[in-house]
Amino acid sequence: NRLDSQEDSYVLVTGGAGYIGSHTVLELLKDGYKVVVVDNFVNSCEESLVRIQKLAKQPLKFHHANVLDEQTLTAVFEKYKIWAVLHFAALKAVGESTKIPLDYYWNNVTGSLNLLRVMEKFRVHNIVFSSSATVYGDPEESPVNEQGNLGPVTNPYGKTKLFIEEVLRDMCKANKKWNSVILRYFNPTGAHPSGIIGENPKGIPNNLMPYVSQVVQGRLPYVNIYGGDYDTVDGTGVRDYIHVCDLATGHVAALRKLHSDPGCVAYNLGTGVGYSVLQIIGAMSRACGKEIPYKITDRRPGDVGIVTADASLANAELGWYPKYNLDQMCQDLNRWTSTNPSGYPTPASETKRIL
Ligand code: NAD
Ligand code: WQD
Repeated sequence: NRLDSQEDSYVLVTGGAGYIGSHTVLELLKDGYKVVVVDNFVNSCEESLVRIQKLAKQPLKFHHANVLDEQTLTAVFEKYKIWAVLHFAALKAVGESTKIPLDYYWNNVTGSLNLLRVMEKFRVHNIVFSSSATVYGDPEESPVNEQGNLGPVTNPYGKTKLFIEEVLRDMCKANKKWNSVILRYFNPTGAHPSGIIGENPKGIPNNLMPYVSQVVQGRLPYVNIYGGDYDTVDGTGVRDYIHVCDLATGHVAALRKLHSDPGCVAYNLGTGVGYSVLQIIGAMSRACGKEIPYKITDRRPGDVGIVTADASLANAELGWYPKYNLDQMCQDLNRWTSTNPSGYPTPASETKRIL
């Protein structure tokens, strides 16, 4: 079996300095995996990697590289014996993707194709791909399971996820050596309970949780609630929020799944429990002990009322269960943002240590 010798082989993590990647790298190191990270810091910085090493109390292999750069990727595959790739690297802002679609297709689609070609060249056939609930478009019913229809997806970001899913399905069909675990995350939030790593959004956040956080910090005056007339518990949009540390353990479970030569499989990673925008504001308010001002405004174009996950397949086939509830997500998010109000600092002296 080609995985037999994996004890001395590496897991390559693209986008490992980012929000979900950094929490996953920490979990992998804690579990004894050998990890090499590739990131170009387009939406992150070296400080997250410095902090992972402090938390894990061990050094981390890192290469500053773009997944579009075939030559550097090839050099990484030549240097390390790699048995599997966790592919997080992507641009992820839905709104931005409608303004600069070519950048999104180039980075997310061409970047993934380039990575897959290099993997093929080195006969590394195991990949875990970061997909999104967005591939379900406007689901007919919630909770949505993996048999649910895919699309139509209306924004370029979501299409890049759907395209790469299709590529992976075709590749696994054509060549039984390929194994691909597609993980469809619902709404990731929270931060490591230490408060030492977390999400580092640049500019005004698009997503609800980081937006609410910035209102708590006084950086934004109030939360705009996009629509109060959905057919939900209180009229505001309902989503399935999942703690980023639960996503991290989901990736470890996905790596284990690769051992069974599964071909191409897709799993929802969510809690199965939906919360409305008002319930989120209430939970964040409890976590920080402050009133959070809000205004109900028009619906956001492209939004849907309810999206929650049926994650029973991941429970059954990956043995994965989320552990954190909404209050813990909010407390951990609040701990991270209150101790790191401007996100990660990047002192030059720190960054040298990982190069
Ligand atoms: P993030 O922006 O924090 O992390 C992505 C990382 O990839 C960043 O460190 C960025 O610098 C890096 N990157 C981007 N393009 C690259 C390139 N061409 N070469 C090398 N590195 C590159 O985002 P995240 O929230 O951690 O998301 C990780 C993955 O999960 C992404 O693929 C995203 O689309 C997917 N996802 C995220 C969410 C979410 O709400 N956060 C939901 C579903 C799916
Ligand atoms: C959640 C709820 C909004 C902001 C997006 C992507 C998805 C995935 C996760 C990457 C909705 C409401 C939001 C605000 C609000 N990302 N809201 N005021 O849209 O479910 O999913 O992030 O793959 O692909 O589409 O997440 O956090 O933007 O919104 O009222 O300022 O909060 O209407 O009901 P969404 P979100």
